[in-house]
Amino acid sequence: MESTLEELRLLVQARYPFIYLVSFEEERVVRALRWLTGAQEDRLAIWTATSGFRTGDGDLVADSADPMAALEFIDVHEPRQLFLLKDFHPFMDRSQVTRKLRDLVPILERDQKTVFFLSPHPVVPTELEKDFVAVEVPLPSPPEVSKLLGSLVKSQGLEVEPDLYERVVKASLGLTEKEIKKVYTKLLISGKRFTEEGLEALIEEKRRILHRSRFLEYVDLADQISDIGGLGQLKQWLIERGVSFSERARQFGLPPPKGLFLLGVQGCGKSLTAKAVARLWKLPLLRLDLASMFSSGSGGVEQNLRETILVAESMAPAVLWIDEIEKAVGGVAGATAERGPATRVFGALLTWLQEKTKPVFVIATANDVANLPPELLRKGRFDEIFFIDLPTVHERAEILAIHLRKRGREPEDFQLYSVAELTEKYSGAELEQLVIAAMFYAFSHERQVTTQDLLRQARETVPLAVTMDEQVKALKEWSRYRTRPAAYDTRRMDFFEEWEEVADDEAV
Ligand SMILES: Nc1ncnc2c1ncn2[C@@H]1O[C@H](COP(=O)(O)OP(=O)(O)OP(=O)(O)O)[C@@H](O)[C@H]1O
Ligand SMILES: [Mg+2]
Repeated sequence: MESTLEELRLLVQARYPFIYLVSFEEERVVRALRWLTGAQEDRLAIWTATSGFRTGDGDLVADSADPMAALEFIDVHEPRQLFLLKDFHPFMDRSQVTRKLRDLVPILERDQKTVFFLSPHPVVPTELEKDFVAVEVPLPSPPEVSKLLGSLVKSQGLEVEPDLYERVVKASLGLTEKEIKKVYTKLLISGKRFTEEGLEALIEEKRRILHRSRFLEYVDLADQISDIGGLGQLKQWLIERGVSFSERARQFGLPPPKGLFLLGVQGCGKSLTAKAVARLWKLPLLRLDLASMFSSGSGGVEQNLRETILVAESMAPAVLWIDEIEKAVGGVAGATAERGPATRVFGALLTWLQEKTKPVFVIATANDVANLPPELLRKGRFDEIFFIDLPTVHERAEILAIHLRKRGREPEDFQLYSVAELTEKYSGAELEQLVIAAMFYAFSHERQVTTQDLLRQARETVPLAVTMDEQVKALKEWSRYRTRPAAYDTRRMDFFEEWEEVADDEAV
């Protein structure tokens, strides 16, 4: 909030006539404007369509509810005054109002008066665009939330251990001040307070509230990096970059990582990786439903993107996951001539990817490049583009091991290398299904699952990549010089030698 206050102060000093404050939070904005007046409360008059103007000392100005009367009041008011018009946008496109606003410009400049407009959605008629400047008021920052929590904890005489305190603050980001206060009050009333249980309730509540931004979903983090089989290069990259969100990394001169583009064959771990990263880095994971945002109709799309980005940034550091991006932006490629809303918004998204300064790490995934606009993958948008191929024989063994272990079996009890050899072109998802199918078979025969069951399943199934051979080949071809392989070069890792030994043993 501090930098926003400073920006507003400068704009007022520079005599900007009209400032559009974009926010859901009226109370916070009013407080900010009061701060701008110094201690002189009477320098701020606030208007609503229902009661008209109310001056700093609380008096109502008679007959000022009509928008034209309100503008007249501003016109004749003495110099050096701030005015706040709440939800004025419905009146903005009346020709009389537009004209009056334009006439006001020189007067406001001369008299050092500034008019603020406040609503969650900025609407400005074209004729007035040049006279307006829009300022997005960010949601409460970590220090602000911390202060809020601190005063509540103190007033209630509660004890909260520092680690939990930090997590409560983090979990509250992305909410408005009012929402935070409500949620905290609810925690106190329910007796959960700021305990582990309270924290869970808080996160649950936030998930509900965040539905406000229709296109963001708060994703639960169940998967870990150790749940990913293979993809060694990608995992190493993630582990290395994880530390760069820290303050220490900043002092060392490192920028926070921007994002990753994961391109790959279906079912080979793209979505899995996105979830595991957030957990590895201990950041909240937000899934952005870009496809439904793009198809959400004209006009509002830009607004939706802006709001969504605002919410995501207010939760920073966070991971923003755009799954199956090709489905959303597929139609955008080549449509530049028309400049439809989707194309414009896509442009805005690219700009944000390139220029964002908040630590929002973007993971975009795709399993097809045919329809991807080339500018998406241009340098500067993402730190790296990884290609996730069908797993190699070593990776297949590792994936089988992971899924057996997940279901309470000891991988050492199986000859996984033999199964891996027999499952060429299987995706990770198909290997998981194979384990499950084998277990079903064993269960129905009332015995433990064995290597033989796995082998039988492998003989019986045809992997998708076989039927989609052409597509997989094309993807591979495209990726060869443009992307970095997610898997390790087969011969490079020590532990692969282990597998070689196992393979030799099994061969005997
Ligand atoms: N490398 C892997 N290691 C372990 N499990 C895997 C791996 N790849 C896939 N799986 C299993 O398959 C499931 C589906 O994979 P995931 O959703 O990550 O695929 P995807 O690449 O996103 O596919 P799609 O292109 O269809 O979205 C995972 O939840 C996991 O159980
Ligand atoms: Mg997926």
